Amino acid sequence: MITLGIETSCDETACAVLSGRDTIKSNVVSSSLFRHKPFGGIVPEIASRHCLEQIDFVFKEALGKARVRPPDIDLIAVTQGPGLIGSLLVGVAFAKALSFELDIPLLGVNHLEAHLAANFIARKEPFHYVGLLVSGGHTSLSYHKNGRITMLGSTVDDAAGEAFDKVAKILGLGYPGGPVIEEIARHGNPEAFRFTKPKQTNPFDFSFSGIKTAILYEVQKYWGAKYTGKPGRSMGLKDGKFQSRILRRLPLGFQRDMAASFQNAVVHWLVVKTLEAASFKKVKDVVVGGGVCANSSLREVLNREGKACGVTVCFPQLSLTSDNAAMVARRGIELYQKGRRSEQILTVDPNLPMGR
Ligand code: KG4
Ligand code: ZN
Repeated sequence: MITLGIETSCDETACAVLSGRDTIKSNVVSSSLFRHKPFGGIVPEIASRHCLEQIDFVFKEALGKARVRPPDIDLIAVTQGPGLIGSLLVGVAFAKALSFELDIPLLGVNHLEAHLAANFIARKEPFHYVGLLVSGGHTSLSYHKNGRITMLGSTVDDAAGEAFDKVAKILGLGYPGGPVIEEIARHGNPEAFRFTKPKQTNPFDFSFSGIKTAILYEVQKYWGAKYTGKPGRSMGLKDGKFQSRILRRLPLGFQRDMAASFQNAVVHWLVVKTLEAASFKKVKDVVVGGGVCANSSLREVLNREGKACGVTVCFPQLSLTSDNAAMVARRGIELYQKGRRSEQILTVDPNLPMGR
């Protein structure tokens, strides 16, 4: 069975061809990240325009690499949400047109569920497990059993990836923040700064806006202490231009220690809550997905702490952590084989929750 996956939920335009459930025949991604970098974050209009420009090329390249012709496709799986409405519309409209023209079944897929499903390409899905989703827009813990998904908790403010991105901006490290923070954190002292663990009523909820603000205050304090007469209040987050001019002057040692301390705290909070959720649901498997799970510190600590509690932690291969269409195809075929179908009236849902 040949599945074509289409992913356009944010800044990437991606198509992949999956044979059966396990064999990736092609996985093509065109990223518009370079176009957003000067703005310090994703600009939705630029993202959707890029998807529109790229989708046809990416589709043809994916088919060419897989040596597959359009009539060979048995199923089209497309990201229906959550994500940016303009980008989502490009993928869904393209998928619907293709499905109609070629008379191939169509299936709308949840992007977050697809991130977790990336783990099950060439690996068996555990009978029941806790899912940790850590991406640029979402952070959640969910319980999965027999294909049923129950949400245990999610972030009440910023997502984990968003926190990496915002802290990198505050430290003057550019966008996206995750990879650069991970890189400079290697040379920093993770104990240099301590952050208060956020308290949540639901033990499986997350909050990352407090640590971001604490870091902003530390940066302001540093600035104020070093240059008396030029108080930290000039460092407002909204004043992008002035802020980046000052922040580039932060000493490398400060940036490294702050990045290491931030990463250490976020990883610790993620790991503790995930293992508490596993213990609460009495499961021995944890499945992780989303861009932040490329982070080697998260991988190392979660694996190590999981092992100590008898929990097996499953991460997708590195090439499948960021947005891609192979994971969409994988989730699509799984649902299709369970009898799920979408109609031509399929619409996008920018806020599509997991498990629906
Ligand atoms: O899942 P993803 O590719 O896109 C969304 O669906 O949001 O995640 C992107 C996020 C960005 O916030 C990026 O900074 C973060 O993943 N990220 C990382 C790393 N690589 C990417 N965060 C921490 N460490 C990394 N190595
Ligand atoms: Zn994603």
